[in-house]
Amino acid sequence: MIKNICCIGAGYVGGPTMAVIAQKCPHIKVTVVDLNEERINSWNSEDENELPVYEPGLAAVVKEARGRNLFFSTAVDQAIDDAEMIFISVNTPTKTYGVGKGMAADLKYIELCARQIARVAKSDKIVVEKSTLPVRTASAIKDILTNTGNGVQFQILSNPEFLAEGTAVADLFQPDRVLIGGDTTPEGQKAIQALVDIYANWVPQDKILTTNVWSSELSKLTANAFLAQRVSSINAMSELCEQTGADVNEVAKAIGLDSRIGPKFLKASVGFGGSCFQKDILNLVYIAKSYGLHEVADYWEQVIIMNDHQKRRFAKNIIKTLYNTVSGKKIAFLGWAFKKDTNDTRESAAIYIANDLISEQASIAVFDPKVEEKQILKDLNALETRSAETNQKGIQTFQNSYDACEKAHAIAVLTEWDEFKTYDWQKIYDNMLKPAFIFDGRNLLDKNKLEEIGFVYQAIGS
Ligand code: UDX
Ligand code: ADP
Repeated sequence: MIKNICCIGAGYVGGPTMAVIAQKCPHIKVTVVDLNEERINSWNSEDENELPVYEPGLAAVVKEARGRNLFFSTAVDQAIDDAEMIFISVNTPTKTYGVGKGMAADLKYIELCARQIARVAKSDKIVVEKSTLPVRTASAIKDILTNTGNGVQFQILSNPEFLAEGTAVADLFQPDRVLIGGDTTPEGQKAIQALVDIYANWVPQDKILTTNVWSSELSKLTANAFLAQRVSSINAMSELCEQTGADVNEVAKAIGLDSRIGPKFLKASVGFGGSCFQKDILNLVYIAKSYGLHEVADYWEQVIIMNDHQKRRFAKNIIKTLYNTVSGKKIAFLGWAFKKDTNDTRESAAIYIANDLISEQASIAVFDPKVEEKQILKDLNALETRSAETNQKGIQTFQNSYDACEKAHAIAVLTEWDEFKTYDWQKIYDNMLKPAFIFDGRNLLDKNKLEEIGFVYQAIGS
């Protein structure tokens, strides 16, 4: 039985996943390590607002297990040495250089981890890939590990994480399924069983699926591609709805009642974001191309093309509606995170909308309940559209929405935070310039009520 686990990478996946394993398995020592000292310090902070990842319910889980059998540390070698099972949960961004630039996953962090494990390990280990990875990464990790020549035996498992941010804790407590891929050899099966036994502490056996490594790796990419495709599909219909007088919410409801289609993931929006969807589809496209499967590659690439279009046309519509110029106009952004209940901003639509509007010399005023100014500027600067100074001039953050919206020409709702629905919209209206516009990129607010107050209200897909 496994008694000591280590997880390399204390991010949005590694942190919450290990906290839940530790909470559910008090008999297992779980150590989460990261090179980033600031991150580890934040995980160890007594102030729950300081945790590096915001997730509803997470602080309580961390509090219960931390110091008991959950530890956060920068001592990577020590943790590897002590553990019988090592999860790799480091970032795998899209490559920004060389072959496969903009498409393939950058596996340098994974490879560095594998080499570190190979260097440090003195006893047999089960290595679990938790990060979403291109198919056949397990085999690369295995190559590196088995060629160390120190006699240590490694088993590589693929155990993709399906949690969604904002609902991570609930998803981890009650997963739809847990997927574990491993070798078909007796040693491989034994390693799979060791991981099954951990999850079986709280997940019903019939929800724990075991497959070969390749199926497991590809299932993760496929699940994300299908989910993203649903969003792009409904977003494509939203543009058609705007032309024809149909209402995309009504269409979504009507098709969602078909049990073969189902009601989830049919919410038209300003475009999907997050660290996974775009990256995983690009990955899929790259893999398909590398096998010469151009039709397959083009098919999936269209999901991203549609998403880019949805973001672009949202920004264009703001400019057009504000009499073809936003130069010098204050536009308030409600929300910067890529979805509600997270402080994660990776690939958030807000970044791209802000970028387009700043290019038109608009002045952006942002309020997000969980995202700080430092992050917002970092996101914009990463696009390298203009100098950091110019970005700084083009965007300002506020501690509340009322201040952000004061004297604004328009409001853009970019994240579906619940609190936006509870505002005193009359008060916001009174303090805006007239006509006062709302561009609701999440179809979140009450159109009738806002129009009664006097707003010019525009939603997606109606
Ligand atoms: C996703 C997968 O859901 C999860 O299983 C996987 O492990 C990681 O990637 P995540 O990116 O955290 O999770 O959030 P998700 O809820 O999938 O939302 C992704 C994006 O799609 C968000 O920007 C969200 O606002 C958008 N979205 C989602 C829509 O625009 N409409 C919808 O109907 C659903
Ligand atoms: P995810 O959303 O997949 O969890 P994050 O970027 O939030 O991704 O987290 C990945 C973490 O992995 C980062 O905190 C990063 O510092 C850490 N990391 C990357 N490479 C290594 C490494 N070789 N050793 C330890 N930690 C690493």
